[in-house]
Amino acid sequence: MTMKRMKTLLAVACLACGGTAVFPAEEQPLYRNPSESVEVRVADLLSRMTLQEKILQLNQYILGENSNVNNIGEINSSFIPGLGSYIYFNSDARLRNEIQRKELEVSRLGIPLLFGFDVIHGFRTIFPIPLAQSCSWNADLVRQSCAVAAREARMSGVDWTFSPMIDVARDGRWGRVAEGYGEDPYTNGVFAVAAVQGYQGDSLTGSGSVAACLKHYVGYGMSQGGRDYEATDISAQALWDTYLIPYEMGIRAGAATLMSAFNDIGGTPATANHYLLTEVLRNKWGFSGVVVTDWNAVEQLMSQGVAADRKEAACKAFMAGADLDMKDFCFKDHLEALVTEGKVPLARIDSAVARILALKFRLGLFEQPYTVEVPDAKRVLLPAYKEVCRQLAEESMVLLKNEAGTLPLRKKNVAVIGPMADDRENLLGSWSAQGRVEDVEGSIYENLRAELGPEARVTYARGCAFDGTDRSGFREARKVARKADVVVVCLGEKKSWSGENASRSTLALPAIQEELLAEVAKEGKPVVLVLSNGRPLELCRVEPLCDAIVEMWQPGIVGGKALAGILSGRVNPSGKLAITFPWFTGQIPLYYNSRQSARPLQGKYQDQPTVPLYEFGHGLSYTSFEYGDLQLSADTIRRGEKLKVEVRVTNTGKVDGKETVHWFVRDPVCSIARPVKELKCFEKRTIRQGESQTFCFEIDPERDLSFVDSDGNRFLEPGTYYVMVKDKRVCIELLE
Ligand code: GLC
Repeated sequence: MTMKRMKTLLAVACLACGGTAVFPAEEQPLYRNPSESVEVRVADLLSRMTLQEKILQLNQYILGENSNVNNIGEINSSFIPGLGSYIYFNSDARLRNEIQRKELEVSRLGIPLLFGFDVIHGFRTIFPIPLAQSCSWNADLVRQSCAVAAREARMSGVDWTFSPMIDVARDGRWGRVAEGYGEDPYTNGVFAVAAVQGYQGDSLTGSGSVAACLKHYVGYGMSQGGRDYEATDISAQALWDTYLIPYEMGIRAGAATLMSAFNDIGGTPATANHYLLTEVLRNKWGFSGVVVTDWNAVEQLMSQGVAADRKEAACKAFMAGADLDMKDFCFKDHLEALVTEGKVPLARIDSAVARILALKFRLGLFEQPYTVEVPDAKRVLLPAYKEVCRQLAEESMVLLKNEAGTLPLRKKNVAVIGPMADDRENLLGSWSAQGRVEDVEGSIYENLRAELGPEARVTYARGCAFDGTDRSGFREARKVARKADVVVVCLGEKKSWSGENASRSTLALPAIQEELLAEVAKEGKPVVLVLSNGRPLELCRVEPLCDAIVEMWQPGIVGGKALAGILSGRVNPSGKLAITFPWFTGQIPLYYNSRQSARPLQGKYQDQPTVPLYEFGHGLSYTSFEYGDLQLSADTIRRGEKLKVEVRVTNTGKVDGKETVHWFVRDPVCSIARPVKELKCFEKRTIRQGESQTFCFEIDPERDLSFVDSDGNRFLEPGTYYVMVKDKRVCIELLE
């Protein structure tokens, strides 16, 4: 081994022990050599950087027109020499390349810029919102959608997406419930893994992948009252058995980055939470990726009452474990002084800079800092991308109710009524990145007309707006309904009613929409209700008026066609709810995996039902599936052994269909009270009419029967466990 390499490796070792690498000046820039390991390149580059250069790498600003209305931010098209990264708001790579070139012209060490953006459910090809995607129970399709999003984004100048959002959410008043994968920890974890795999692929280098970002770490979905940005009170037990579960799964899947959340947890903001950001993330889980704060989250520590000024905020966030400061420049303005004052060790600076440099090396930005500029026609909205979009939209829609075979539509004289009936824009949903209304391929009305063909008579009336008190359209709506054989009423939410800073005090639709439905129902025709929304809804007054209900969510650019396919019967719906629909808002929080009450038969509401209207996992089909009894490969098991449970599912209906089998476990007696049901496995398959298929859940006790305590230690207790599918249950005994 040459002296040169020995000195380098010594430096790497020094850095790895939290020291600061120092290289003699005569060394050639090893970091310029792509055949060297990332560790060696990072150590070499770090040793050459000044403190000021290091600190600039720890800040992120915006570039282009800030499209996030919730973040007060100016339009910025200039750059700050040496600043490490930007949120990139433009839809193609030109400005990004221009700024990259300017940076590299002045950068003493030629460190390229890193560009991030919120690619939440697509970049330009907009997919269903994540809450809808989870109702597809098709992890591979979600992975494919993220791979499409990664390709469009990377080829448009974005190296890093602030996605997936995996905050377990059980309060639909919170607008961001739209952005995650529902109420269940395991479900959020499975889709976190699918998203990380889709975004990052096998390598971060090249035009088909972007770095993923697990967010918002952690417990953001518990914001009090469903009000965004509010404090949370989460027990240490709940932190470990619910909110941290998806993050550990996403990190094990190789997520490159993570974002700290706005909320506090029991008085300690997530962004200044040393326990979470260092003891758990680094020391327990060994996460080596970048932690970026949320927008202004460092400065907001002052609002949260834990920092007197921006300097103290910078110190608390940085020493807790945040590496990169998004937007507020607290790190840029104060870290140097904090180092000089001895409040921030240089080793901590180096550890953060090292992670950011490692990400840039892994992304290949030193070798290829520029995005190859490709015209839109070759870069976005490709037919193959839309095909994935269509499949995911079809599989995420949920048939909630279907009395007397109202659906699929058999009548050809159809009235399409409601504020959502001929709307396109709101099909995009919140966080629609570079999605454009002109990319939406038709409204519900337009697609249903095309679907039913010239022999059908499809009429339309808007009836009312999304909200307000204008009832003047009711008359026309009733007239159109009167002349039809069946009425499709399309109600729902504007895309701005969910997402960030979009909390609502009730899950109910605006009164005007409920009144429209009641008016139309007076015509006595079969009523099919179609809902397009970003949260579970309060449907207690609506449900009795409808013969069928389809939850289409906010399905993206080909959602209208997907819905038309379901209404016509061309597509057999296969979605199932990943979040509970309560009867009414007052029941919140109401979710399937709650712990048993002390008096299960008492304590019910005196004035309303206590059970949900539609439970987690609910979803109908145009066919019927019959479940056989659960078959066990054994009824006892020991640690280290595996046990199989099987169920035979038969399609007893008249059409092919897709069915998801959800496998739950329960430990009825444990040293820590456990939920009455815990989802541990799910599988979706196509089962042809008349066909039977056997689904198998291979139980690994350590993985599937264990629990976690309030210190994050997983434990496994002998005893009886239930395994449940639908209304079937078997017992297994875990022996000492
Ligand atoms: C926002 C969101 C976060 C997003 C970030 C950048 O405030 O909370 O999810 O990634 O800022 O836009």
